[in-house]
Amino acid sequence: MVQDTIQRRWSSRYGYMLAATGSAVGLGNIWKFPYIMGENGGGAFIVVYLLCILFIGIPVMMAEVVIGKRGRQPPAASFRLIAHEAGASPRWAGTGWFGVLAGYLVLSFYVVIAGWALAYVWFSGSGQFGQGDTATVSALFADLIADPLKLAFFSTTILLGTVVVIGRGVNAGLERAVELMMPVLILMLLVMAAYAGWVGDFQGAFDFMFVADFSKLTLHGVVTALGHSFFTLSLASGIVVMFGAYLPTGVSVVKTSIYIAIADTLVALLAGLVIFPVVFGYGLAPSAGPGLIFQTLPIVFSQMPGGYFFGTAFFTMLVFAAFTSSLAFMEASVAWLEGRFAFRRMQAAFVSGTVLWLLSLLTIFSFAGAEWTKLDLSWLGGGQANIFETIDFLTANVMLPLGGLLIALFGAWIMTKQASREEMATNSIIYNIWLFSLRYVAPVAITVVFLQLVGIIQL
Ligand code: TRP
Repeated sequence: MVQDTIQRRWSSRYGYMLAATGSAVGLGNIWKFPYIMGENGGGAFIVVYLLCILFIGIPVMMAEVVIGKRGRQPPAASFRLIAHEAGASPRWAGTGWFGVLAGYLVLSFYVVIAGWALAYVWFSGSGQFGQGDTATVSALFADLIADPLKLAFFSTTILLGTVVVIGRGVNAGLERAVELMMPVLILMLLVMAAYAGWVGDFQGAFDFMFVADFSKLTLHGVVTALGHSFFTLSLASGIVVMFGAYLPTGVSVVKTSIYIAIADTLVALLAGLVIFPVVFGYGLAPSAGPGLIFQTLPIVFSQMPGGYFFGTAFFTMLVFAAFTSSLAFMEASVAWLEGRFAFRRMQAAFVSGTVLWLLSLLTIFSFAGAEWTKLDLSWLGGGQANIFETIDFLTANVMLPLGGLLIALFGAWIMTKQASREEMATNSIIYNIWLFSLRYVAPVAITVVFLQLVGIIQL
């Protein structure tokens, strides 16, 4: 089944860059990056992370855009078409499916965490951090995640918003929303970084982040940095291929990809500069884990001057960032439903949203501690984990790197050079650097790290 070529295009280069940056910048930058950096020793982790972005993330990202732009179809069909063009097996379409599936699984818990952020806008705005004693703040977090109804309320709100905006279409919905939200987000981050540096310990944060102490780096840190470089650039989840399919002709794949990766990295570093001055200034632990921003920052917000405003603004910004990513997440499945079943867009968005809503319940009940969400993974060499932890681990540490590996192999070895050269439309030096990274550097690095990971599981 070959579908009609997608006719839809981004309205401009700027519209594309905003939407792609909106997809890349999300919970990964503001919630996840600071806490994994905190857990893995700061500066040295950042060095590895930057290397992964540069030598693996950016080349794979370009490959995804090139594949989408060549195929002009939803992900799986684009892979199939290009494989056909190169005389390779149509089974490469599986790479596209694999990505869309990974993206779907990520989104199923992503909306729940975005829901936490929304809940915290409410908590902060209605003064529920109280005097900011640890007990009040911890109880607030514990009560929230233990209450399936509350969690479902907030995540459903996020999901409904996503469905409605995506249902309105790419230009009127998605582009319009990110055009409004992204500039506000950047502005808010800048103001807050300045504020945090002023009330907190800027020097401490700076040293933690930019002085690399490699003795603190573990194998686990390297694996995490690699997985996160895929997660944060939204790679291997179908979406960059999809966005590439909407790329107007004449827009440079190389330049836009580099800009997007730089913007994403700057936001992550900026988020660190908002959070760590506060963490160090108020004597909190940088290695607090996933609860870092939800369990520790409210303590600070309720104690520092202007904290009421600062807190509400911070969580609003987090909701914005998560929301623009959720929009992107949903686009690939909606475009596929439209093409495959001739659904109208709004219908497709509701169908996709309903499936996601059901999947999100798995995460919600995992946090609530329901018995049926507890899995015994000892047969895999793992321990006890709930469904959420399993999905998180499976996607970020297994599916994304594996999908990235397949995409690199496909773009570099299967797709004809003539095709990729045409779509990259750049001079031969840059093209050759790209091809070399994709052929050798990325696959070898991913395989090595991946094998280490298998070693970790077996330990
Ligand atoms: N990049 C997003 C973030 O950092 C997360 C993400 C992963 C994503 N895959 C995606 C977002 C696909 C949109 C589409 O938060």
